[in-house]
Amino acid sequence: MANVNSDLDLLPPPICSRDESAAACFVPRPLKIGPVEIGFPVVQAALSGYSDWPMRIVARRLGAPYTIAEVLIDRFVLDLKDRARTKHHLLVTDEEHPVGAQLMGSEPDDFGPAATRLAEAGFDVIDINFGCPVKSAVGGCRGGYHLGQPETALEIVSRVRHAVPPDIPVTVKMRRGIDDSNESRDRFFRILDGAFERGVAGVTVHGRTVEQKYVGPSNWDFLREVKQHVGDRTIIGSGDVFTAQTCLDMLRHTGVDGVSVARGAIGNPWIFRQTQDLAAGREPFSPDLTEQARVLRMQLDLCQQIYDEKKSLATMRKHAIKFSRQHPQSEETRIAFAAAKSIDAWLAVLEASYESGAGVNE
Ligand SMILES: Cc1cc2nc3c(=O)[nH]c(=O)nc-3n(C[C@H](O)[C@H](O)[C@H](O)COP(=O)(O)O)c2cc1C
Repeated sequence: MANVNSDLDLLPPPICSRDESAAACFVPRPLKIGPVEIGFPVVQAALSGYSDWPMRIVARRLGAPYTIAEVLIDRFVLDLKDRARTKHHLLVTDEEHPVGAQLMGSEPDDFGPAATRLAEAGFDVIDINFGCPVKSAVGGCRGGYHLGQPETALEIVSRVRHAVPPDIPVTVKMRRGIDDSNESRDRFFRILDGAFERGVAGVTVHGRTVEQKYVGPSNWDFLREVKQHVGDRTIIGSGDVFTAQTCLDMLRHTGVDGVSVARGAIGNPWIFRQTQDLAAGREPFSPDLTEQARVLRMQLDLCQQIYDEKKSLATMRKHAIKFSRQHPQSEETRIAFAAAKSIDAWLAVLEASYESGAGVNE
C-alpha cells in the first residue's frame, strides 16, 4: 500500500480490519450528498477533458452511482448558446441521475447566475472548484487560487448556495492547501468550516497541495484528520485511487464518507463495479476483450450522438489509448489507436485488436 502514510498505523483501528485480504467483512456506508442518495460510496470525479456526457453514461451503465461533469468556467456557462458545438455541456439525460456539475471562476458575482443555469439544465448537485492547479486557472484567479483567500471563497459559496433551489445540494472541491505552510493549512480549515456553515452538503478533498500539482502522494493522513474534524458532515476523499483495493483502502484508513475516482476511472470504467465486488467479498470483475470492445463501441456511439466526426474521433482516440493499457498487446494497440485518422480507421483497430480473436485474453 504505497500511498498510505505510515503514521496511519498509529491511528485507531479502522471500521473492520487492517488485513487487506479481509475485504469481505468491509461494508461501506451508503453515501448521501444532502438529500441526494448516492449509494455505494465510490463515485466518478470531475475530469476536465474526459468526463463529458458519453464518459458519464458509460460509467453509470457500468456501476458508478454518481458522476460529475467536466469543470466549466462560470462565464462560459453564462455565454453558452444553443449551438451544436457547445450545447452538450448542458446535456443531462434521464439515465445519468444523480449527476453533478462543477463551476470554476474568479468573481463571486458570476457564480450565482451560472449555478442557476446548471441547476436549470438538470444537474442534481452543483460543485464549486477550489482546487484546480493549472497555470491558466490559478493565473486567472480561479480554482486553487481561492484557497489563498477564504473571504472570497466563502462569498462564492454563499452566492451559489443562495442561487440554486434548496433541494439541490452545493458541494465544494478543495486541495489541502496552496502549499505546506501553516497559513495555508489555517485557510483550508477556515474555508472548510465556513463552507459547511453556509450550507454546503459535502466537501471533496484532494490530499495534494496546489503547488504540488501531481508530484508526490496524496496525503491520506490529512483526509483522515479532516474527516475527524468535521464529524458527521460529508467528506469525499480524492487522490491516488487507481484500483478497487485502493478505493476500499481509502475508505477504511481515512474514514471519509466517499471516494472520488479520477485517473483510476480513465480507461477503466469497470472500477466502480470492481470495488463493489471486492467489498462484497467477490473476485473483482475482469473485463475480457469482448467486454472492452463492447464498451468502446458504446462510448463511440454516445459520442456520435452529440459530436461531429472530428470531435468523436479525437475523443475516442484519447479514451481508447487509455483503454489499451488493459490489452495484452497494449503498446501495439495504443500506437494503432493513436494513428487512426478517421472513425473507420479507429473501428478497424478495434476489430483487429479486440474482435478478430487476434488479442489473446487469458
Ligand atoms: C485529466 C484530469 C482532469 C481533471 N479535471 C478535474 C476537474 O474538472 N475538476 C476537478 O475538481 N478535478 C479535476 N481533476 C482532479 C481529480 O478530480 C482528482 O482530484 C485528482 O486527479 C487526484 O485523484 P487521483 O490521484 O486519484 O487521480 C482532474 C484530474 C485529471 C488527471
